[in-house]
Amino acid sequence: MTIENFVHESNKTTLEQLDAFLRIPSISTSPQHDRDCRKAAQWLADHLDGAGCTATLLGSDTHPVVWAESPHVPGRPTVLVYGHYDVQPPDPLDLWDTPPFEPTVRDGNVYARGATDDKGQVFSIVAAYQAVTRSGSPPVNVKFLIEGQEETGSEVLTDLLHREPQRVAADAVLVSDSSYYAPGWPALYTALRGICYCEITVRTLKSDLHSGLYGGVAPNAHEALVRILGQLKSPNGRIRIPGLYEAVERPSAAERKAWKQLPFNERTYRQREVGAKALTGIAGRTPLERTWALPTFEIHGITGGFTAEGAKTVIPAVASAKVSLRLVPRQRAKTVERQLRKRVKELAPPYAQISLDFVHGADPVQADVTAPPFDCIRRAFREVERREVVSIRSGGSIPIVPLLATGGAPVVLTGVGLPDDRLHAPNEKLSLDQFWKGVRVFGRFFELMGAS
Ligand code: BES
Ligand code: MN
Ligand code: MN
Repeated sequence: MTIENFVHESNKTTLEQLDAFLRIPSISTSPQHDRDCRKAAQWLADHLDGAGCTATLLGSDTHPVVWAESPHVPGRPTVLVYGHYDVQPPDPLDLWDTPPFEPTVRDGNVYARGATDDKGQVFSIVAAYQAVTRSGSPPVNVKFLIEGQEETGSEVLTDLLHREPQRVAADAVLVSDSSYYAPGWPALYTALRGICYCEITVRTLKSDLHSGLYGGVAPNAHEALVRILGQLKSPNGRIRIPGLYEAVERPSAAERKAWKQLPFNERTYRQREVGAKALTGIAGRTPLERTWALPTFEIHGITGGFTAEGAKTVIPAVASAKVSLRLVPRQRAKTVERQLRKRVKELAPPYAQISLDFVHGADPVQADVTAPPFDCIRRAFREVERREVVSIRSGGSIPIVPLLATGGAPVVLTGVGLPDDRLHAPNEKLSLDQFWKGVRVFGRFFELMGAS
């Protein structure tokens, strides 16, 4: 009841606060926005202080971790809330209908960078905390751990948790940084993919050369690079890196059967969500298996040579590519880095000088969703949504989750976004209905955890 009262009475102020939080361009990947990252952290810490917690900023001046503790209630369990206040760059800007850092409400959605990933979702948990503490002390002990580098590899938080592992001591960890399976279908995640992100650079010449005078004898760096890249995956989608699939396990028959029961229309998915003429990948595997349970190799961008307007006849001396592999349970980022490095060296022609820089990595996550906190979140969703949660996986990654799990507390991976939220893309949004469902669900989760 108190949650419902909060939702009705604090509706306007809560959305104004969400607006203020979303306005801060806390883009963690560009140093120009260091001060904005700090500002977002400070804003959140001030807000949590105002909500009755004791908040501090830890680990960095530019990308601090926000740590906040609720007033201690003896004898009650502890819920650790993890999320991130940093966002992805908003470009290409001209594809946004309204500016990414001027949150705008249209048809019940708030449009802004970070609306769903993850500021809006973090704020729905914070509002849920406010809802359940309105008339007194919290039903459960809550600790907030909200970082500012999730999108760039979580360095500050990783260092912090290595120095102070007791911070993750809790009875449950709550992470809301993903989405429902479909509208009306809340989800618990049983696995996330890991990632191994690298930059490959090829040098074939001391300097660029005239392509007429030297074309025919001078080795072209771009050509060497694309030949290497082209050999890393076969046209049927199999990644050609020796040993890569050794640790990969097919999901159990029971898990695959459960996925078959989810509403999924390949044609609509291909046309509306992917927007392509065909789906690629390993034949004989469903799209869900390909995105949730198999590794990938993707080329993110290639630079080198001449790409400006007009024409320039040059043989490039240097070319480089940013690439990544997504990893599935039992694969390890460090192992995959070694395997990729070895393969790239083998594929390089003798005249090419190759370097491979590891940019960031994360191990995959596998979660057993049977511990008691999962009963609390299931019940909370059932009460609010009137449907059972589905257990699914995601192809995305949350790099810090393996470290959060080292304290032994079950990690509840869930979300209140919707599949069409366009995270990382232009016109990212969060449905306000979903936001308020989050307030109700997480509020009930706190109450049920407190009573458990
Ligand atoms: N929230 C996403 C990951 C996500 C999305 C998980 C949907 C499950 C469902 C997160 O912010 C993200 O984008 N992670 C990055 C991590 C990477 C940069 C290390 C990703 O997956 O690309
Ligand atoms: Mn996220
Ligand atoms: Mn993200």
